[in-house]
Amino acid sequence: MRRADAARRTLLAMTAAVVLFGGTAAVPAQAAELTPGALAEVAQAAEPAPGALAEVGEADAQVVSSPDGDLRVAVATVDGRLMYSVNSHGKTLVGASGLGLDLAGRPSLTRGMSIASVERRTINETWKPLWGTSSKVRNHASELTVHAVQAGTGFRLDLVFRVFDDGVGFRYHFPGQSGLDAYTVTAEQTEFALDPAARSWSIAAGKTWSADEQHYRDLPLSGVSTAQTPITAAPAADSYVVVHEADLTDYPSMTLKAVPGRPGVFSSDLIALPDGAKARLNGEFATPWRTLTVGERPGDLGESHLIENLNDACAICGDTSWIKPATYVGVWWELQRRQTTWTAGPKHGATTARVKQYIDLAKQAGAKFVLAEGWNANSGGSWSGQDFLTPQADFDLPEVLRYAADNGIGYIAHNETRGDIDYYDQNLEKIFSRYEELGIHAVKTGYATKFLLGGVNRSHYDQEAVRHYQRVIDAAARHRITIDAHEAIKPTGLARTYPNMMTGEGVAGMEQQNYMGVNGNPPAQATILPFTRFIGGPADYTPGVLNVTWDPARLGTRVQTTSAAQLALYPTFFSPMQMLADTPENYAAHPEFAFLKNMPATWDETRVLDSVIGDYTVTARRGGGTWHLGAITDENDRTLQVPLSFLPQGTFVAETYADAQETTWKGDPLPVEIRKTLVRW
Ligand code: NOJ
Repeated sequence: MRRADAARRTLLAMTAAVVLFGGTAAVPAQAAELTPGALAEVAQAAEPAPGALAEVGEADAQVVSSPDGDLRVAVATVDGRLMYSVNSHGKTLVGASGLGLDLAGRPSLTRGMSIASVERRTINETWKPLWGTSSKVRNHASELTVHAVQAGTGFRLDLVFRVFDDGVGFRYHFPGQSGLDAYTVTAEQTEFALDPAARSWSIAAGKTWSADEQHYRDLPLSGVSTAQTPITAAPAADSYVVVHEADLTDYPSMTLKAVPGRPGVFSSDLIALPDGAKARLNGEFATPWRTLTVGERPGDLGESHLIENLNDACAICGDTSWIKPATYVGVWWELQRRQTTWTAGPKHGATTARVKQYIDLAKQAGAKFVLAEGWNANSGGSWSGQDFLTPQADFDLPEVLRYAADNGIGYIAHNETRGDIDYYDQNLEKIFSRYEELGIHAVKTGYATKFLLGGVNRSHYDQEAVRHYQRVIDAAARHRITIDAHEAIKPTGLARTYPNMMTGEGVAGMEQQNYMGVNGNPPAQATILPFTRFIGGPADYTPGVLNVTWDPARLGTRVQTTSAAQLALYPTFFSPMQMLADTPENYAAHPEFAFLKNMPATWDETRVLDSVIGDYTVTARRGGGTWHLGAITDENDRTLQVPLSFLPQGTFVAETYADAQETTWKGDPLPVEIRKTLVRW
């Protein structure tokens, strides 16, 4: 909704695409998402054990409740093991679940533990993000710190619980103590005992790179054997919980594995270093938070700030004028569709002239940045060797930067590391300081394929990889540069502390319409992502391809949505660097491009109005006096009534961009009907 006439307090309502897909109803919605691996997991699913969700008895436990009293966490030791359970609205959400870790050369911290003392406090603050889904965030939680000690060894281990109205976070803390100079975590044994019959949405763990670029499975929890986080479960129609982590710093990424013989019970499974160790630590240390985002409706999950609240306050917030949430355009989709190439040659995409056309497009669209993949020497060529400072012969960097600056547009330098992380690490300072001199304040990193760090190829998610991503954020901040990281680590809310870490991929985004076979990303995926992947933080999904059937190189693939649905993705998917992915020519040919002009990339308020995960979702976001509303559906046609009760009272003009009567997902996905109507609330 755009402010039409301030004097009359009249707002224009903007409804982006109430999307109706064409009928291919014969395909069962979820079957299309099950990979052969996932089907095997269903076949092996065991019967739920009776009583799997017994709680830790409150009588002998330390109990901590959310400020509204609806969530209760009980912590106790049972036979020498620290255990916790979570109760939501009087029902067990997480049954009695074990806690503890194993350190090399010491008795397991899952045995002989007792609680020596506890501390309690309340956290209650409101903070203002530099960018985000709301302009103000309330951080209100009850905190319980449990000081535990191990019999025999005297080893001290703390557990810190924070209980919010919208979920729970807990972390291990190793207090400084003698003999704790250098130590190795060999396993973390945190359990999550969930209802095995709960419906769940997850992706499997096990891949060493691009693990987050898979399609979400829809399975009963008893059928899940491994999962990346976030994993989302719905034990009842009015109960949702997401297991994830927050503040992933100096530690490996957590995945989950099913505990054999205990259906619905998962244990943390940390990504190993090449020698099998999980984490090498020195002295006092706090692990990332293990998180449970809780809600009665999917929308509660989408509106939650739990993950950000469990990260530290901003560490780089002096002059932040260089951190600009914005939309961007760039030489990208034409490469993905093989109209042009990353490599030098007659079809090279990132030429000076072509990038200038994209700068013109950025200006027209109200976008603030331009990306030019294939700009630097050796990009896209032999998959080795790097150079992030020398442009290709037909790309005049000073001239592009001059033209961009004259038009008020910033340049995003693409750094595809090609697996040579050692080179990137050793040259970060040189590269970023040169960018700063040139006035380049945004970098898109890439970590496709290998991850050679310390001379060893390793998982993109182990402790050393996590440390590398942090070194990039720190070096970038020193040189006033923002980061959009592809093929890196899942988001865990670190952007609260380092808001120059704008966005990342970690999703089967638009490019997978090309690479995941003729069915690309099935439409249901976009209705699942806001309640799974996006719970961790923003994703650079790169929406906005309006010519969804454009296939200049006859690849035989296409974007698996209607054009109107592409518009609806902007209010649906949050990213403070949000791409307008299509080409200048395609935008010029599509009048619905009007919806994308001056599209905000940061919001004052977010309402996830109506959603059934896997079927449809409706999201409204406000930036200033304008609301943008996006509604998307799976492969089924759907008509939704959306009460405008979230609006303040008044008269609004709704600019609606919707599938036209004749639009069908498979047949003719292009027509978009554009209407303007007055609505009153
Ligand atoms: C994968 C990235 O996700 C994509 O955005 C990029 O264009 C290619 N790698 C090439 O670097």
